[in-house]
Formats: sequence, structure tokens, C-alpha cells
Amino acid sequence: MNRKVGYIGFGNMGGGYHYETATRDDIPFTPIAVYDINPEVRKTAESRGLAVFDNIDDFLASKLFDFVVVATPNQYHCKYVCAALEAGYDVMCEKPVAMNVPELEKMIETSKRVGKLFTVHHNRRWDRDYIMLKQVIESGKIGKIHSIENRVHEKDESGQMFGWRMFADHGGGEFGDWGIHVLDQTLDLIREPVKSVTASIIPLNSHDEIDDYAKILITFESGLTAQVEASTCAPFPLPKWVAYGNRGAVKINKIYDDTGVVRYMNKYHFETENTTVYPDEKVSTRPFEKLIVDEWAEDKLPYAPVEQDWADLYKNVGDALDGTGELAVTPESVLRCFKVFEAALISSKEKRSVQL
Ligand SMILES: NC(=O)c1ccc[n+]([C@@H]2O[C@H](COP(=O)([O-])OP(=O)(O)OC[C@H]3O[C@@H](n4cnc5c(N)ncnc54)[C@H](O)[C@@H]3O)[C@@H](O)[C@H]2O)c1
Repeated sequence: MNRKVGYIGFGNMGGGYHYETATRDDIPFTPIAVYDINPEVRKTAESRGLAVFDNIDDFLASKLFDFVVVATPNQYHCKYVCAALEAGYDVMCEKPVAMNVPELEKMIETSKRVGKLFTVHHNRRWDRDYIMLKQVIESGKIGKIHSIENRVHEKDESGQMFGWRMFADHGGGEFGDWGIHVLDQTLDLIREPVKSVTASIIPLNSHDEIDDYAKILITFESGLTAQVEASTCAPFPLPKWVAYGNRGAVKINKIYDDTGVVRYMNKYHFETENTTVYPDEKVSTRPFEKLIVDEWAEDKLPYAPVEQDWADLYKNVGDALDGTGELAVTPESVLRCFKVFEAALISSKEKRSVQL
């Protein structure tokens, strides 16, 4: 079934990516109406044939549409998501979804109470580099994963914060802008419970109000660790992904990259070896199983061609609304990610590890 879309906030994302995606023939969504506080933006929307509103109550009362995309600066997300849900619409909100965990809990409670879909535009779960990484892990070639690095290293002024992202009361800063994507991918990949979070989230070239560098170390229940990093000033960009398993490792250099390399033990066996040990102050021998690597191998990526299309997120939401598929970006997965996001902020502020 085709959904009619009303946009709250029609700037770079709302009037750009979200609008354009919903104009595609293969996407079961159609742009219909816009509420934005900026008259210039409303003029642009009108020139595209959309209904425009300068008042949120009239927009929500119009019933011209059935699906709302919230793409304003971050401090308005909670207010608009809850208002749209209460008015009877299904809602997708941009990231970072909220300013704090209680706001997100309020959005989830509202969606459950009114029985409407609520999801978040975590489009980077569909990034090519991430899909390639999953292909490698699923192949089993690098064995059981124990350490992951996932980062965005930007090296020039194009990565710096700008506009409302420069201000804390708008939810600005690199951690909320890029870091949340990297964190969401990492937590989508590793589904086991998070036990502790240690972070440093600091300003490099921005004013002290916001960060433009974030490094987070997450320890999961099994002992697996993930390092998540987002930097606006990295003259030696490190790989987007490095994942180590007990049989090999994978490295994917850049975001959106369609190349990478996997090194793994192609042939190995175990041999029983006897070694000297000292129980009860006596010299004796004890056997152990020693791993012998007979052959290392290297594969170039990708294993299978990867067509990156963020609109797959829209298709998934359409399927979930039609009851023909499971929602990928569930409110529960967003809450799990946001709790780690908030724990990282506390860790950085209080200079301590936070246990979850
Ligand atoms: N998922 C992604 O890849 C991605 C990329 C960029 C931005 N974003 C997110 O999208 C959201 C919007 O970012 P953007 O880059 O489009 O910002 P933007 O500044 O380009 O657009 C924001 C729009 O919201 C309007 N607006 C501001 N306050 C409003 C209010 N109170 N009520 C109604 N409209 C209001 C502005 O007039 C503007 O048109 C943010 O949450 C941002 O983090 C996500």
C-alpha cells in the first residue's frame, strides 16, 4: 500500500533525501505536505506541488497524509514525534532520536499507547561497508569475533560541525551527528548485552559547548570489545572497520567502500604437545592442544556485489506497515543504542566507566 508523507522540517534531509526517496516509483511512499517554520523552505515545498503549513496544529489536523517524517534539529524531535503519534500518524524520526533517554522513552510509550508505528532513520544499517563486513563475518572465515573497531575519520574542514550542529541546546556535536550512526551499526552487529562503556567526547576545533571528537570503548557480556570513534580532524584516516576473530581479521578502509581485505587461517590443525609444568613442586609434563597454522590466505572484498540503497529502509518500513515484514529499526533497538549513547556522555563527563 502506498503511504502519503507529511514532513516536519524540510531542510537538507527532509526536503533533500527524504523527499527525493519518496518520489521514487519503487518506494511505496509519496510526498504530500510540509510543516516548516522557515518561509523560504515552505516556498520551495510549494513549488514542488506540496501542501504547506506554517502551523503544526493545522498540519496535524489536515489528515492529508498518513505517515510523518520528523527532520528538524534534534531538540524538537520528541515534541513533534509525540504530537504526530497522538494525532494518529505513523512516524519516522531522524537521528539522534532524542536529547536524552526519558524523551525517547516518552516517544516509545506514546507509540505503544496509540498503536502507531514509530521508527528512526538509522539509514547506515544499509551502508555498503557495513553490509560487506556482515558478509565476511557470516562466511565464518575469520572465526569468532572478539574485537571490533568502527570509526568515521574525517580529515578536513568538510567534516567540521556547522549551523545548528554547533550548539548544545540543539543537540549539536559530532557524537550525535556521526557518532550515533557508528554506534548504532556496532550495536546492530553485536546483539549481546553491553556491560560497560568508557568514553572521551571532547572539543578539538569547535567551541567548548559541543564535541567534535568522540572515542568510546564498549565491553560486551562475552568480553568482546568494540571501539567506536568519530573524528572531524584525522589527517591519517584509520580504517572504517577492523574486526578480529580467532581465525583471522577483516579491514575495510573507507565508508561506502566496496573494497577491503580479509586475512585468515585457510588451513590449520591442532596437535597435542606435552609441556613442562610444576604441580606440587615437582617437575612433570602436561598435554595441551596447540593451534598450528598451515596456510594463511587473503581474500579481496567484496565477496558478493553490494548495491547500497538507503531506500531499503523505506521499503522495510512499508513492509512493516503492510504486515508483510518485520520492522528492522525497532524502537527497542533504538533505545538500546541510545542508552549506550547516554552512558558514553556520562562516562566522558565524569571520567569513569559506566556499568550497564
Ligand atoms: N540520517 C542521516 O544520514 C542524517 C544526515 C543529516 C542530518 N540528519 C538529521 O536530520 C535532522 C535534520 O537535519 P538537516 O541536516 O536536515 O537540518 P537542516 O537545518 O538542513 O533542516 C532542518 C529544517 O527544520 C526546520 N526547522 C527548524 N526548527 C523547526 C521547528 N521548530 N519546527 C519545524 N521546522 C523546524 C528548518 O527550517 C529546516 O528547514 C537532524 O536530526 C539531523 O541530525 C540525518
